[in-house]
Amino acid sequence: MTTTTPSARRKTLIAGATGQIGSSVGMHLMGLGDWGPIGLARTPDPKAPYPMIAVDLTDAFDCQNKLAQLQDITHFLYAARFDHFGGELESKDTNVTMLRNLLDAIEPLSKNLQHLHLVHGTKYYGHTVQERRTPYREDDTCGNFKSFYFEQQQLVQQRQFGQNWSWSISRPHAFCNYRTDEARNMLLVLGLYASILRELGEPLHFPGTPRSFEVKTQFSWLPTLARSAVWMMTEPQCANQAYNIVNGDPLSWSELWPLFAQYFKMAVGQPNSSSFARFATDKDAVWQSMIKKYDLKKTDLQTLAQWPYGDYVLSLQWDVVSDMSKAQRDGFTETINTPKMFLGGFDYFREHKMIP
Ligand SMILES: NC(=O)c1ccc[n+]([C@@H]2O[C@H](COP(=O)([O-])OP(=O)(O)OC[C@H]3O[C@@H](n4cnc5c(N)ncnc54)[C@H](OP(=O)(O)O)[C@@H]3O)[C@@H](O)[C@H]2O)c1
Repeated sequence: MTTTTPSARRKTLIAGATGQIGSSVGMHLMGLGDWGPIGLARTPDPKAPYPMIAVDLTDAFDCQNKLAQLQDITHFLYAARFDHFGGELESKDTNVTMLRNLLDAIEPLSKNLQHLHLVHGTKYYGHTVQERRTPYREDDTCGNFKSFYFEQQQLVQQRQFGQNWSWSISRPHAFCNYRTDEARNMLLVLGLYASILRELGEPLHFPGTPRSFEVKTQFSWLPTLARSAVWMMTEPQCANQAYNIVNGDPLSWSELWPLFAQYFKMAVGQPNSSSFARFATDKDAVWQSMIKKYDLKKTDLQTLAQWPYGDYVLSLQWDVVSDMSKAQRDGFTETINTPKMFLGGFDYFREHKMIP
């Protein structure tokens, strides 16, 4: 069972501290003031306002060597994921090895370890490989598809047996955050796409299939996910539990598209079975002219946003909807209005001169 350590003695290890959720949790913990974050990544962020250690989690020796100094970790948030590209499935072996190497290195040194939180996702339910009954519930089986999340969960359950620490797992869906330096960012992909189409005098075409336009999907607002991780790390009822953490309002792109078109003052287009990546290939010239015309920040269209990531997010061919009632029942009641989240993101990018 989780017990609360006097705050001054908390020391929180964040694996994947330079990633989207790892960095969000790190900043959130800094704001809370008494969590003593320490980050891990192969390439630490020199600007991070807390200590970071450079370590390659695929290398057991590197973990033993570099992490021997970490004697008194009380909380441990695992948000690392090995490199993967586009919509490909992550390597199960590499990701499980990374977590195992880390546990082997720090668990014997962490006599005061209270809690290990893993940031996982809806791929646990196998949504990328087959249609499933929705909404996904935390105790649904994952059928024949065993993702690296499933294998990591098994590993943690085995390692925790008979120990004083507890674990928890969050299962979010597509991350959203207001950041100008994060290319894997659906808000930025959409904001750039819409403003370029408007400049060209085109309607807001949907660059996916009629089916992907209609299926229901969800998003996870990163500040909410970061708060939920702290909730799980501290609340006794969350010990050894997994929770879906999504905004809470399943929507189809066909519901969002008219709102986006209205925001950018353009006509609503229809699905054209094209792709963001194809769209972006020949838009450098128009983008550079827009930068001059609207006095935007100087950016390179091909690297500013990860266009294939946008295609991955639009690629769903069936509903991917998670049930939030377990988290709400156990006390995490925060919900996010997804349309407002998107429109607020476009406002943010405008204020930061990223889009006109
Ligand atoms: N992004 C999403 O929309 C989304 C949605 C649902 C669930 N999730 C899940 O949430 C978790 C975190 O995702 P994310 O998008 O925040 O990750 P991310 O942005 O891709 O970051 C991955 C982190 O892992 C670190 N890392 C990778 N390989 C490493 C290695 N060999 N040794 C040490 N550190 C290593 C990276 O730092 P270095 O490269 O410097 O090593 C980075 O800090 C993953 O399980 C992911 O599947 C993500």
